[in-house]
Amino acid sequence: MDRRKLVVGNWKMNGMRAHLDEVEAIGRVAAQHPAVEVGLCLPATLIMAGSERRGAAFIGAQNCHMDISGAYTGSLSAEMLCEAGASWVITGHSERREARGETNEDIAAKSAAAHRVGMKVILCVGETIEVRDAGRAEDVVSQQLLASLPEGAAADWLAVAYEPIWAIGTGRIPTMEAVASMHAALRAALATRIGAEADKVRILYGGSMNGDNAADLMALADVDGGLVGGASLSAAKFAPIIEAAD
Ligand code: G3P
Repeated sequence: MDRRKLVVGNWKMNGMRAHLDEVEAIGRVAAQHPAVEVGLCLPATLIMAGSERRGAAFIGAQNCHMDISGAYTGSLSAEMLCEAGASWVITGHSERREARGETNEDIAAKSAAAHRVGMKVILCVGETIEVRDAGRAEDVVSQQLLASLPEGAAADWLAVAYEPIWAIGTGRIPTMEAVASMHAALRAALATRIGAEADKVRILYGGSMNGDNAADLMALADVDGGLVGGASLSAAKFAPIIEAAD
C-alpha cells in the first residue's frame, strides 16, 4: 500500500513570534519535498501568524475542546482553531492524557469534533515503561487505540501516532523490531474496526525521532512518518527528518 509519508512537528509549549522565521524556513523545506506531507502543530498563539508564513507546510493545533462553544474558560474549539488556520489537530498526546487526565472517551470525542469542522486528526497512543517492561505494550496500546478511535475513522482524515511515553524527549527509542511489531499490531487492531481502510491509515512514530534515526524508522513497513517534538523546533534539525521521509 502506497501511503504518502506524513512528517509533523509538535512544538508543544514552545515558540514566540520570533520563531515564525523557523516556520517559514520549514515551509520552504516542505516545498522541496512535495512527496512528503509536512506540518507543524504550533501553540495556539502562533496558529494565525504561522499560517500566513507556512509555505508548503500545513499548520495544526495540539488540542481542541470536544464541544462547539460554551462556558469552558481557557479552551478552544476545533472550529476556532480551524478558522485561525489549523487544518490538523493532535488528540490524545500522552502529555494531555497523563497531566490533564484525558480519557479515551474524551479523545474520541475531540477527534470527532475536529472532523465535524473539516479538520484532520493525529490520534496519539503509547505505553509507559512499566507496561513495556511487563511485555504488555502491544496489547495495551492496541486497546488504547480502539478505545479512543472516533466513529467513522477513515484514512482521509485520521492518522495515528505511536509515541512510547518513555521515548518522548529522552533520546531513547525502542528497537527497530519493537517499532515494526507495534505498528503492525496497531494496523491489525485498526482492521478489526475499520476493515480494509486500515491499510490506508498512516501510522506515525513519535519519541526522540531525529536526523540520525529517522531514515531507519521510516524505512519500516508500517511506519508512515513521524511526529517530532524537539527536533522540529528549527529548520536545521527538522529538514534531515523531512529528507529521510522522501
Ligand atoms: O509529539 C511529539 C513528541 O511527544 C515527541 O517528542 O521531543 O521526543 O521528539 P520528542
